[in-house]
Amino acid sequence: MRPEILIAPPADLAGIFALLFEAEARQALARRGRFSCAVPGGSAAEVFFPPLARLALDWGRVDIFWVDERAVPASDPESNYSLARRLWLSPAGIPPERVHRMGADGIDLPAAAAASEDDLIRTLGRPPRLDLGLLGIGPDGHVASLFPGHVALDETERCVAAVPDAPKPPPRRLTLTFEVLAEARLLVFGAFGDAKAAAIRDGVTKADSPLPVARLLREASRAFLFVDQEAASLLSASDR
Ligand code: 6PG
Repeated sequence: MRPEILIAPPADLAGIFALLFEAEARQALARRGRFSCAVPGGSAAEVFFPPLARLALDWGRVDIFWVDERAVPASDPESNYSLARRLWLSPAGIPPERVHRMGADGIDLPAAAAASEDDLIRTLGRPPRLDLGLLGIGPDGHVASLFPGHVALDETERCVAAVPDAPKPPPRRLTLTFEVLAEARLLVFGAFGDAKAAAIRDGVTKADSPLPVARLLREASRAFLFVDQEAASLLSASDR
């Protein structure tokens, strides 16, 4: 599936993403009475979360999950949950029971993955189908904590995988698996800066690229790519 590509400064993309999020949420609430999303950490979170906090949505019917989480306590600045709480969840006053933190900070990472998977399935059913997945893109083309060539990328039984050896620090993480992400009704990828340009070029233009971002863009039923000029710099006019 070819993504809709929006190229603009991050501040502009943040406003557009908030409008898209609101529209998707209102449609899901009208059709199914619930709206579910899964979100990342990193620059996509830093750019896209603040305007979400200003949306006038019925947050009591919105379930928030994470696409991945680091094996650190919720209070640790490295925690994706901590970043969301600071930029979005607390300012928006989102009810704690709607926030499904991926508790990756236990000693037993596989047990933590199983607990997160149980929560996901208890909330969304099996297979769990998210309404919206927000993803950043690593310079190596990883999404969530699914890294190129990593065994977790080909996990087909589980919905949440333990990643004890991520190349991006901190190494111990949990991640939604590829199939859960691919099953989402809508995926929005956010990437900024020229370090992401090669991964975006491969993801958009190389039909046989093995990069996680490329594989996910091929499988997504609907996808947006929100990038700044630098991240889009290797896309030709016809690719855009
Ligand atoms: C994480 C994120 C991860 C992130 C990419 C890109 O836990 O680190 O969820 O998937 O989105 O690594 O990060 P940047 O956008 O900060 O480069």
